[in-house]
Amino acid sequence: MGRLKGAVLGGLMVWGLTGWAAGGPEGQLQGWAREAGIPVSAFSAARGEALYRQERTSAQGAAIGCFSCHTKDPGQPGRTRAGKTIEPMASAVTPTRFTDPAKTEKWFSRNCQDVLGRACTPEEKGDFVTWLTRVKP
Ligand code: HEC
Repeated sequence: MGRLKGAVLGGLMVWGLTGWAAGGPEGQLQGWAREAGIPVSAFSAARGEALYRQERTSAQGAAIGCFSCHTKDPGQPGRTRAGKTIEPMASAVTPTRFTDPAKTEKWFSRNCQDVLGRACTPEEKGDFVTWLTRVKP
């Protein structure tokens, strides 16, 4: 009985640890790298920054980009169209950034569609998060 209990507990601990690792930015970066068929080291912070700053013209003729809500400085709080505050995107300022895969994927899919009119590729997600987890605002 003791051994069984130990095995169950051990199993839970391993599950808990891998679950934790998969939930951090590193786990997500590894996931996108696997999807893209490239190593994590191939992600580019420079390309991620360019995506963040890229400007497009909306159907209404306005200049829009990720910065429209997240501001041009990822160390500063952003603002939704409805005026709600968004925590800064840089992990250095908001350590909880990119630690919840369900949240990260939900917003990538919503915001990429909104701004680019298409889904972001796994490479773009990796680049974007590589920049924001490294930038020192
Ligand atoms: C219309 C406003 C708006 C625009 C434009 C926008 N975002 Fe966001 N974004 C939000 C909001 C609101 C949240 C969720 C609130 C939060 O995370 O604090 C969010 C969260 C995110 C997250 C989740 C971060 C995490 O902690 O996991 C990612 C990733 C993201 N946005 C990427 C982008 C990218 C990439 C672009 C440009 C292609 C973009 N956003 C443009 C409003 C916007």
